[in-house]
Amino acid sequence: MNARLASLLLAALAALSSGCSKDANAVLIGEVSSMTGPEATFGQSTHKGIMLAVDDLERSGGIGGKHLRMKTIDDQGKPEEAVAAITTLITREKVVAVLGEVASKISLQMAPKAQAAKIPMISPSSTNVKVTEVGDYVFRVCFIDPFQGEVMARFAKERLNASKVAVLRDVASDYSTGLADAFSKTYTAIGGTVLLDESYHKGDVDFRAQLTKIKEAQPQAVFIPGYYNDVGLIARQAKDIGLEATLIGGDGWDSAKLYEVGGKAIEGSYFSNHYSVDDPSPRIKAFVEAYKKKYNGELPDGLAAMGYDAMSVLGAAMKRSKDLSGPALREAIAQTADFDGVTGNITIDGNRNARKPAVVLKVAEGGKFEFVQRVSPTAPAAEAPVAPAAPAAPAPSAPSATPTP
Ligand code: PHE
Repeated sequence: MNARLASLLLAALAALSSGCSKDANAVLIGEVSSMTGPEATFGQSTHKGIMLAVDDLERSGGIGGKHLRMKTIDDQGKPEEAVAAITTLITREKVVAVLGEVASKISLQMAPKAQAAKIPMISPSSTNVKVTEVGDYVFRVCFIDPFQGEVMARFAKERLNASKVAVLRDVASDYSTGLADAFSKTYTAIGGTVLLDESYHKGDVDFRAQLTKIKEAQPQAVFIPGYYNDVGLIARQAKDIGLEATLIGGDGWDSAKLYEVGGKAIEGSYFSNHYSVDDPSPRIKAFVEAYKKKYNGELPDGLAAMGYDAMSVLGAAMKRSKDLSGPALREAIAQTADFDGVTGNITIDGNRNARKPAVVLKVAEGGKFEFVQRVSPTAPAAEAPVAPAAPAAPAPSAPSATPTP
């Protein structure tokens, strides 16, 4: 009898310390982030935003009286690490939901795991259209690249008055190729000419051959939908060879490191993003102040804001959900409507995407990102394509030197 009781007690103690039940009073959320590697600022900023939202949720009483606990795994910016990470989070840690990734290429690899396990996954900022198409357990709280590409195509044509551009895309990145295609499609449809479409591979360090070809074609702007490290290097080499065209890009530029790598060469460039730290709206001001307070005066970039919104949307859904099982939580997230996010009003649509405005920022002197304009998703959609048979995919090379209308 006594021996039996003792062994039962021992078993209970073992269970407690093994981790399965050590936090009976906590809800465990998983996060897969690039905390190190070439996209390290993406993961680090996103994580900081998430943790700020966790503070807010804890202050408001947690989830049904339970604490929130984050289990974050660094994927080093590698898809295979991310797949291992989400598998661990779901099967071993038994998280109720997963936040991540930033890079579309990585989210695309993770998503099938979440879908198969029926554990909701919310990407804060993966914009490639295919990410949420993986299945009904995969969500995002950001806009998608067809919209972002349209915003920059119109910006080039209508604000920069550029009628001839070149594109320089990272062919190893789903994000870059998707955004390059979206940009070219709109740009061509509104009467612009894509003189040539050059490519590189993430991690390349010498872009001079492509840049020289681009320089010879004499575009007025070059669209570079890459990530900050590559873009910084590209900008430097463009300057070196005397390429004068205005450089433009997408949200992948959003990092303080862009200027560290690109220096003066990146000044005067423009990119689309999810929010502007200088936005005077009280909602954004309060967020920026709270973030600075928590992180030693550091300013939140777009990633931090998206991380904050992703966790906040998940938190609100957990509070509404009838329980924290995958299917119930999936339902609750899908019903997110009119959520007052830092990056705008978030309504999850039938494709599990969010329709939200984008901002265009200028890389000003000293690397400061200056607000230029805000573009809402409804505004530009109305115009019908001008060209009768505008090709959806950009022509691989064949620069047509035809002057534009
Ligand atoms: N949208 C990018 C992608 O899908 C990731 C990103 C988001 C990078 C926001 C920077 C800022 O890969």
